[in-house]
Amino acid sequence: MYEIVKCENIFHAYHGKEENVVLQGISFSVNEKEKIAIVGKSGSGKTTLLKIIGSLIIPSGGKIIVQGNNLRSLTVPEVLEFRRKYVGFVFQDNNLIDFLTIKENIELPMKFINLPRDEREKRIEEIAEALDIKRHLYSLPKELSGGEIQRAGIGVAVANYPPLILADEPTGNLDFKTSEMVYEYFNNISEQFNSTLIIVSHDTNIKNFVDRVLDMRQINKI
Ligand SMILES: Nc1ncnc2c1ncn2[C@@H]1O[C@H](COP(=O)(O)OP(=O)(O)OP(=O)(O)O)[C@@H](O)[C@H]1O
Ligand SMILES: [Mg+2]
Repeated sequence: MYEIVKCENIFHAYHGKEENVVLQGISFSVNEKEKIAIVGKSGSGKTTLLKIIGSLIIPSGGKIIVQGNNLRSLTVPEVLEFRRKYVGFVFQDNNLIDFLTIKENIELPMKFINLPRDEREKRIEEIAEALDIKRHLYSLPKELSGGEIQRAGIGVAVANYPPLILADEPTGNLDFKTSEMVYEYFNNISEQFNSTLIIVSHDTNIKNFVDRVLDMRQINKI
């Protein structure tokens, strides 16, 4: 089995007035196509860990390999290339641009990689179908409900079929039923596009939708 993410003894400290050690000796691996939840209390370092996996932060110590790339040794252009090719991010407060329609939002990452127009149209159709947002493609984000906005945000994240989807509290503002629906769409997407999924959540219900739960209390030796 191929390990798409491999963390070995990750250490991370933020430097403010005092040093704040957030991650201490974290080691775990994620297999290709696995669905993982990272849970833990507020301030336990979940977002920090997710940002390290997506190469938005370079850890202070340890080794992190994602899709064969040693993230601590990439140059700046290599980091940008890595993120564009391999990672789709979903944030709690969504990643939609408010003056673009849902269709234009999903299309934007495809334009960045110069995907031809007919291929873009085909993918948008497929993604909107999987996320059940076809009838909202020509709406602006402000015309959508919370759950629809989250699904559209997932659409943007998966626009270029990233092998790895990283989602930080994607259902943070949603009620129980809508959260379940969003998790189900995540499952659809990961199955349809063969992606690996790492979801950070406070929601204990997440365990019913993933293959494995990583609890910060167990993996962080702090
Ligand atoms: N950019 C930053 N600069 C300095 N300290 C930071 C920064 N980001 C996070 N921290 C600190 O690191 C710790 C872990 O933060 P992190 O955001 O990773 O936690 P979290 O588990 O995602 O919490 P939550 O569930 O509230 O989102 C916190 O004590 C926070 O104050
Ligand atoms: Mg967080």
